[in-house]
Amino acid sequence: MAVRRAPHLPDAPTFDVRLAATDIAEALADDVRRGLAASPKSLPPKWFYDERGSRLFDAITRLPEYYPTEAERSILLERAGEIIAAAGAGTVVELGSGTSDKTRAVLDAGYAAGTLRRFVPFDVSETTLRDAARQLGQRYPGVHIHGVVGDFERHLDALHQPAARPERSAGADPLQRDGRRLVLFLGGTIGNFTPQGRRRLLADLCGGLEEGDTLLLGTDLVKPKERLIPAYDDPAGVTAEFNRNVLHVINRELDADFAPERFSHEARWNEDAAWVEMHLVARGAEQVRIGKLGMEVGFAPGESIHTEISAKFRPGQVERELAAVGMAVRCQWTDGDGLFAVTLAAKTAPAPTPAR
Ligand code: SAH
Ligand code: AVI
Repeated sequence: MAVRRAPHLPDAPTFDVRLAATDIAEALADDVRRGLAASPKSLPPKWFYDERGSRLFDAITRLPEYYPTEAERSILLERAGEIIAAAGAGTVVELGSGTSDKTRAVLDAGYAAGTLRRFVPFDVSETTLRDAARQLGQRYPGVHIHGVVGDFERHLDALHQPAARPERSAGADPLQRDGRRLVLFLGGTIGNFTPQGRRRLLADLCGGLEEGDTLLLGTDLVKPKERLIPAYDDPAGVTAEFNRNVLHVINRELDADFAPERFSHEARWNEDAAWVEMHLVARGAEQVRIGKLGMEVGFAPGESIHTEISAKFRPGQVERELAAVGMAVRCQWTDGDGLFAVTLAAKTAPAPTPAR
């Protein structure tokens, strides 16, 4: 059924900023203090994505070796109509939305069907989110675009609670809901979490959904390492620069003196865990000062900072992990080459408590 668009809905996007510059510096400081004092050293991947990092990621998605983006896009283009019909959602939320480029396949279908009323892109990278929201506002007149600048590990409540002080009124409905919801989590970003981390994130996310709401989840699939490693260690060195970008971020935000060029980018396939690991490996001995933390960090030659995992999934795994958080798979599609999967799942009713 087509939904008539209410003429009063604003075309200009509204924003809810849960992560301002000062919060970012504080959260980064905590992660750096913990991650670089640990052995082995590690940093969470969300810190890649300042403005430069987001541009580098965008460049990665255009590399011939990096297959996930085009594989997922082909699925979305082919299945968008089915996804929109099955979800029956007035509100589409996107976690880790970035440029929302591939997302347009789904939004176009919702717009053409006349069902799309509200789009909520959610990302830690403010500039990228604002640019994307502005462009989408122009592409979909009459659809309310409401961006959330936040960390989806900490601020998922922004999807349920109105902003204390939204930058502009969020329109007639202050909650992030207008009809049923379809949550998009694309690109394989769920694979950037450990199994425990993704269970926690999916449980938090699905805990906030209502029966009949749906989740569209993109996951990369296990494949030979000869295909995987070049996708994460491309000959043009774009991924290496993306990886080293976290050191530029720490230098700028925390007044540190990393020499990024003295760290080598490495991508390793961990067969047992079924994930690609990215590391930054000190070429020689390094002594780094992190001014704002009053911290000195020493590196032995060859010592690494583990900066990312990118988990790859096996048949049946996504269904099991979603079932564990109360989501039932409705459809699952792969691209023609079987590289990537997109899964549509619906929140199920909680099991009735047995009568005594
Ligand atoms: N969905 C897009 C972008 C994937 S890149 C695609 O499929 O191409 C991962 C995106 O998630 C980036 O835009 C990054 O800024 C965002 N991101 C990473 N960790 C995040 C977090 N903890 N909270 C919110 N956004 C996050
Ligand atoms: C965002 N995420 C799914 C990408 C991935 O493939 O794990 C990030 C990335 N890291 C290196 N290249 C791309």
